[in-house]
Amino acid sequence: AVGLAGPAMAQNFPAKPLTLIVPFAAGGPSDVIARLLADHIGRTLSQQVVVENVAGAGGTAGAKRLASADADGYTLLIHHLALAAAPSLYSNLGYDTLTAFAPVGLVNTGPMVVAGKLALPPVDGKAFFPFAKAQADKLTIAHAGVGSNSHLCAVLMSQALSAKFAQVAYRGTGPAMNDLVSGQVDILCDQSTTAVPQVQGDKIRAYAVTSTGRLDVLPNTPTAREIGTDLEMTIWHGLYAPKGTPGPVLDKLNGALKAALKDPTVLDRFKAVGTNAFPEAEWTRDAHAKRFGDEVAKWAVSLKAAGVTLQSAN
Ligand code: MLT
Repeated sequence: AVGLAGPAMAQNFPAKPLTLIVPFAAGGPSDVIARLLADHIGRTLSQQVVVENVAGAGGTAGAKRLASADADGYTLLIHHLALAAAPSLYSNLGYDTLTAFAPVGLVNTGPMVVAGKLALPPVDGKAFFPFAKAQADKLTIAHAGVGSNSHLCAVLMSQALSAKFAQVAYRGTGPAMNDLVSGQVDILCDQSTTAVPQVQGDKIRAYAVTSTGRLDVLPNTPTAREIGTDLEMTIWHGLYAPKGTPGPVLDKLNGALKAALKDPTVLDRFKAVGTNAFPEAEWTRDAHAKRFGDEVAKWAVSLKAAGVTLQSAN
């Protein structure tokens, strides 16, 4: 952006509403967390934060939108580990993952829930995995596009069971969950954020959680390991601005994010759906930048080892 230099710009920031890009469809876990944050950050900064869902290509369409936005702090992106996995999955993202973004701060971290439609025969996790292995070619598994958490969970599950499911891609797990509830698809591995309320409402069945221990909010659901399946997965969301956003503006945004993560109301909402804020020591921009770099490197190694071939993002 042309005009005011860093400190002066930060003093007046924000002077107009902000846009928070969600790279998946409305109603999914990224959207739920984004709206919770948008509301709180908006109150802290005395400006409206408007959520915009820019879905497509496993969350990379929304990332591309941020990469080309003005670096003035008025356009932000919430994204999860898929932002770090994307360069190992897609050939033509239209941005350079390591240089396009300015990390603002880490948001939440939590497990996935392996869930099935109510009409599936297995009534618990113990019965589910052998069933899923035996019937894999007849079962559909929904996900939010290549590289999304739900997709990576489906891939890990296939590996763990040595079974291949028929995959059905959506623009987010919001619409995928709707189809699981109505029985159009058989299985969905979704973030606890949106899976837990559906399980508690008896709309879907939880077979396993991908954390190392059970969730307080789903005490009867075993971990995948408990039922003998080597499936562990922890997701995380972070908040991003475009690279080149002035440091003082990033600090202001980071401060507003911290205020949200300190608020007991926000923490209660997180807790109710089995997700967590990061420990306070990791609320800095530096901690987010470090995790992001580490995760890009980690996914490059593990996806290469898994023999993944790059596909086009367009
Ligand atoms: C969503 O909000 O739809 C999810 O974060 C997509 C996913 O990664 O599974």
